[in-house]
Amino acid sequence: MVKFIYRPGNNNGDCSSFVGFPLVRNISELQQDSYGIGGLSHITVAGSLLLGLKEVEAWLETFAPGSRTPIHRHSCEEVFVVLKGSGTLYLASSAHKSPGKPEEHFISPNSTFHIPVNDVHQVWNSNAHEDLQVLVIISRPPVKVFIYSDWSMPHTAAKLKFPIFWDEQCFEEPLHDEL
Ligand SMILES: *[C@@H]1O[C@H](CO)[C@@H](O)[C@H](O)[C@H]1NC(C)=O
Repeated sequence: MVKFIYRPGNNNGDCSSFVGFPLVRNISELQQDSYGIGGLSHITVAGSLLLGLKEVEAWLETFAPGSRTPIHRHSCEEVFVVLKGSGTLYLASSAHKSPGKPEEHFISPNSTFHIPVNDVHQVWNSNAHEDLQVLVIISRPPVKVFIYSDWSMPHTAAKLKFPIFWDEQCFEEPLHDEL
């Protein structure tokens, strides 16, 4: 198995040590970026690369009207809290060869939901007039995401995106293979 080594970043984009990073932080001072994804604003509030956390990671994400996550799955737990706006959660189980037609759930302020491990999902700001803001908590960072081009794509064909967009900058190449 390949072992990856992480350098915690200080969120100024230079990936240096988090030593000296204040314990209590203001999220408005943390790095905020679209990471090349139209309509997205992502802040890693706490997590693997930012602070060296091993068990949980938290994101604050804002989706402009019409924007959405890719259809994807990951083998970690994920909890959402909707802070602002509304939209649609699409969810399909991983029990069959491909996700198939997903369940549709309307989400609005104070909605909270979790994504079962490996279930295929997409969060969509389907509200044409308002941003959708969510607080997201995942287990076992850094996340390894498998992306689908549509709901009929077999699970085995989903494409691995690792490191995920916002982890790319501080990701270190594998040093060696572990036997
Ligand atoms: C969301 O929850 C907070 C805290 O309970 C409450 O003050 C607020 O009115 C709620 N908003 C909605 C839209 O339910």
